Amino acid sequence: MDVRVDGRVALVTGASRGIGRAIAAELAASGAAVMCSSRKAEALEAATAEIGGETAWVVANAGDPDQADAAVRATLERFGRLDILVNNAATNPYMGPTIDIDRPRLDKTISVNWAGPIAWSHHAWHHAMRERGGAILNIASIGGVSVESSIGAYNATKAALLHLTRTLAAELAPGVRVNAIAPGLVKTDMARALWEPHEAAMARAMPLGRLGEPDDIARAATFLCSDAASWITGTTLVVDGGALLHASLG
Ligand SMILES: NC(=O)c1ccc[n+]([C@@H]2O[C@H](COP(=O)([O-])OP(=O)(O)OC[C@H]3O[C@@H](n4cnc5c(N)ncnc54)[C@H](OP(=O)(O)O)[C@@H]3O)[C@@H](O)[C@H]2O)c1
Repeated sequence: MDVRVDGRVALVTGASRGIGRAIAAELAASGAAVMCSSRKAEALEAATAEIGGETAWVVANAGDPDQADAAVRATLERFGRLDILVNNAATNPYMGPTIDIDRPRLDKTISVNWAGPIAWSHHAWHHAMRERGGAILNIASIGGVSVESSIGAYNATKAALLHLTRTLAAELAPGVRVNAIAPGLVKTDMARALWEPHEAAMARAMPLGRLGEPDDIARAATFLCSDAASWITGTTLVVDGGALLHASLG
């Protein structure tokens, strides 16, 4: 099966590096025009130059609803339509016991990881997808369905994002499909502190024998955003090398 998104326009948050950048590159290689978004112009400029194809960039903080609005408008101005929204940007400013998280970092985690996808989806729907249809993909985490005490607040926002995915899928059908991916541990900057010190041992413990690469998520993302997934909505695709099997087998 050749998964293509020719003629589609995608907007990807957190697209300057890691998983978001890989998703933007895979969508572009599969035929889409892609608007890449994150907070830093220089990194976006470098990423879009490397990805090539029909790409552009817009600076926006994923946790700011007005900037989400501006990014959606910029996409429509640049490419004339919006068919695919990937809510990928997330933050994890606190590691430690969830019971002791301070309010500023809790608020930031919620506003970027959970309220953010609501705002971006809201603007994508009202400016474009309500009339023309489309696909929304939320990048959650297997942490949204399992318990790790050191990143409990982050994981709770991912659990909420999975629920939001199902809610929006019901609300926006039949025109807009809404799905989520729950990645396991992927070798990016965000997760570096978790994997870098112990990579070989962690890989050996994984059912599929290695940690994830951003491209593992990008291929699944492109499938869910394409017409190959036209009868799939409200679902979460776990892409974790089998990591959750350990949780279920004990
Ligand atoms: N890596 C993993 O093991 C893993 C596992 C499960 C789930 N995930 C999820 O996968 C997604 C991507 O993570 P990643 O590992 O690729 O992270 P990453 O390598 O740290 O990249 C994060 C991207 O998001 C942008 N970003 C961060 N905060 C932002 C904000 N407030 N507004 C707009 N953009 C922001 C960053 O650019 P700027 O800093 O320039 O804004 C960057 O482009 C996240 O939703 C994460 O929760 C990752």
